Amino acid sequence: MMPDINAILKIITRSQIWRSVFRQGYPNTDENRSKTIVNSWFLHIHPVKVRKHTLKVSYTWGMGFITFFLFMVLVVTGIYLMFFYAPSIERAYTDIQALETSITFGMLMRNMHRWAAHLMVISVFLHLCRVFFTGGYKRPREFNWVIGVILWVLTLVLSYTGYLLPWDQLAYWAVTVGTNIAGVTPLIGDQVRLILLGAMEAGPDALVRFYALHIALLPGVMTVLIGIHFWRIRKDGGLSNPDEITEDQTEGAA
Ligand code: HEM
Repeated sequence: MMPDINAILKIITRSQIWRSVFRQGYPNTDENRSKTIVNSWFLHIHPVKVRKHTLKVSYTWGMGFITFFLFMVLVVTGIYLMFFYAPSIERAYTDIQALETSITFGMLMRNMHRWAAHLMVISVFLHLCRVFFTGGYKRPREFNWVIGVILWVLTLVLSYTGYLLPWDQLAYWAVTVGTNIAGVTPLIGDQVRLILLGAMEAGPDALVRFYALHIALLPGVMTVLIGIHFWRIRKDGGLSNPDEITEDQTEGAA
């Protein structure tokens, strides 16, 4: 005789252990499904209801999610690299050589970090394009668009600051050229260059500054902004719907 699966589920989901963890029954009714989302720390970032078209890959290209995934890869692999890297001109170059040759998973972690950084620049740009093409920047989502633009700039600055850290010829000259460009800003050029490098030319002070920006300040600001970005998606009523034209939105239209 086949066991009655529904009866078994009923017994499990009514048990005290199940209730102490999940606080709702098995998610086989609309009510329990909503409660499952709302009561779970992991799931509550999702809204209880979403518009169907926003789930289509052809609508979002999944680029926001992919960007977030790459950011997480960068955080995890970056923390690993921090265990084996010191931002001093005596050690930086040799530490990277050691990562490539003798440290367990060193080459894998470094390459994952580099590839995720390159891919994130591409994915965040494609995400920006998608939002633009679907009109996701329009009211009421203008604020989230601006947060997005800041995230885009931060992504580029994070890539740039990471570039100096191996302290090889490529890194040294890329940073020299980049900060020279900043140095020709009208009126405040010299000051900007001095703030970036901490000296008149790229050297130990610049390395420490770029390191601090790369591992602490920029990722910290980015984490907070990503949190606000996700929270705003919920507060703006979920993802955009190009077909919805309310009276309010047509007001003042030419
Ligand atoms: C670290 C960078 C970023 C992350 C992790 C991120 C993540 C996300 C995610 C997961 C979504 C949900 C929909 C989707 O996946 O497409 C989203 C939506 C959105 N993003 Fe981003 N995003 C980032 C950068 C940007 C940039 C650069 C812009 C624009 C300049 C932007 C503007 C928006 C807007 C306006 C929405 C709502 C779109 C709509 O309602 O259709 N985001 N973002």
